[in-house]
Amino acid sequence: MGPRDHFATRLGFVLAAAGSAVGLGNIWKFPFMAGQNGGGAFLILYVAFVLTIGLSVMLSEYAIGRAGQRNPVGAFRVLKGGAWPAVGALGVIAGFVILSFYSVVGGWTLAYAIKSVSGALASNDPKVLGAAFGAFIAEPRGVIAFHTAFMAMTLFIVAGGVQGGIERASRVLMPALAILVVVLAVRSVTLEGASKGIAFFLTPDFSRVTWGTVNAALGQAFFSLSLGMGTMMTYASYLDKQVNLPKTAAQVTLLDTGFAVVAGFMILPAVFAFGFDPQAGPGLTFITLPAVFAQMPAGPLFAFLFFALLAIAALTSAVSIIEPVVSYLIDERGVSRRAATWGAGAVTWALGVPSALSLGPWKDVTLGGKGILDAVDYLASNIMLPVGGILITLFIGWSIADRAKEEAQSDGVHPFALANVWIFICRFVAPAAVAWVLIGGL
Ligand code: TRP
Repeated sequence: MGPRDHFATRLGFVLAAAGSAVGLGNIWKFPFMAGQNGGGAFLILYVAFVLTIGLSVMLSEYAIGRAGQRNPVGAFRVLKGGAWPAVGALGVIAGFVILSFYSVVGGWTLAYAIKSVSGALASNDPKVLGAAFGAFIAEPRGVIAFHTAFMAMTLFIVAGGVQGGIERASRVLMPALAILVVVLAVRSVTLEGASKGIAFFLTPDFSRVTWGTVNAALGQAFFSLSLGMGTMMTYASYLDKQVNLPKTAAQVTLLDTGFAVVAGFMILPAVFAFGFDPQAGPGLTFITLPAVFAQMPAGPLFAFLFFALLAIAALTSAVSIIEPVVSYLIDERGVSRRAATWGAGAVTWALGVPSALSLGPWKDVTLGGKGILDAVDYLASNIMLPVGGILITLFIGWSIADRAKEEAQSDGVHPFALANVWIFICRFVAPAAVAWVLIGGL
């Protein structure tokens, strides 16, 4: 998308925003986070955060982006100036951090798409599949090659203006992924022994909830909805005045959350049915799903389709992570799109290398008690994005409240009955709640 291109239709924007939101966060991260954080309690906290804070921040980013008609730094500058553009700059930095590890996991999905046709994954034995993932991840050359391939694909899309193509393609491929995820969830919940996993996912055990759990659920809400760093702001800057922002925010949010919940049903029942460890962390989806495919007719075909579609969903998200960075470099620094894309991409790629090595050769290197990939994810999702969210909602609530209300109602075209509730949440509820969770989590 060029700097001042516009979405032709509201549907086009919903698909692009949903394409950004739906990705590895829903299908890779949500199930393993739920597995690590007690299942049902995590689900409830996550949904509660999405419906209150998530929706409010989503609408806030839309309003800032469309009112500012610029990259995040520029939008804050034209709307208010002062120190506010620094919020946009924080988002640009977060973009580098997030894409660095996102691309590594995107590379895993590419590798698994290939492995699923080569027959390397045809087993339902947790030991065999765990060892297969372990062997893949331990070999740095392969992991870095796939990280490189994923990053290159992302950059080609961003640099080359093939967006028209990928947007059109994702109109077909995203629904295809949705259907596949539902089919796999049905297979998973009907496995023998699945009921323990269903109970784990749906029955909250609040005795196991810690600040860490609450912080994780909040971070997951931001990450999965693509909030807190200016992605949604940047996309909304390409949006027409006629579009109904609150309605669009609600649709994108529900679509994203729906995807995550179904992905939970796809993974967690199978984890229990086959005797995998729900605490396995970032490898969980990659070791569990092949066992599900092994229980299906035409399993390798399903496996290939699934990982290929997941890689595409991850690409549409990756594009949206780097787009704010690129649009900042173009608008504010006068860099050409091509130079901005490849320059930012090279830095991000290099930042990703330690994450790529962190489950293999560097698995004993820890930062704050976590492996490198987990630590980078934690820094971005559980700290940078929520801090961004606090600042974004404070900006809406205290700095540009009247302007924001007008923008959210498209200058009277789409009356929004809850406008004052939204402003109230942005003024008090969201900043206080997020700050409280952050402080408690540290
Ligand atoms: N939401 C995407 C996912 O779930 C990832 C993503 C895209 C993102 N843009 C973002 C995360 C901006 C944080 C901020 O996979």
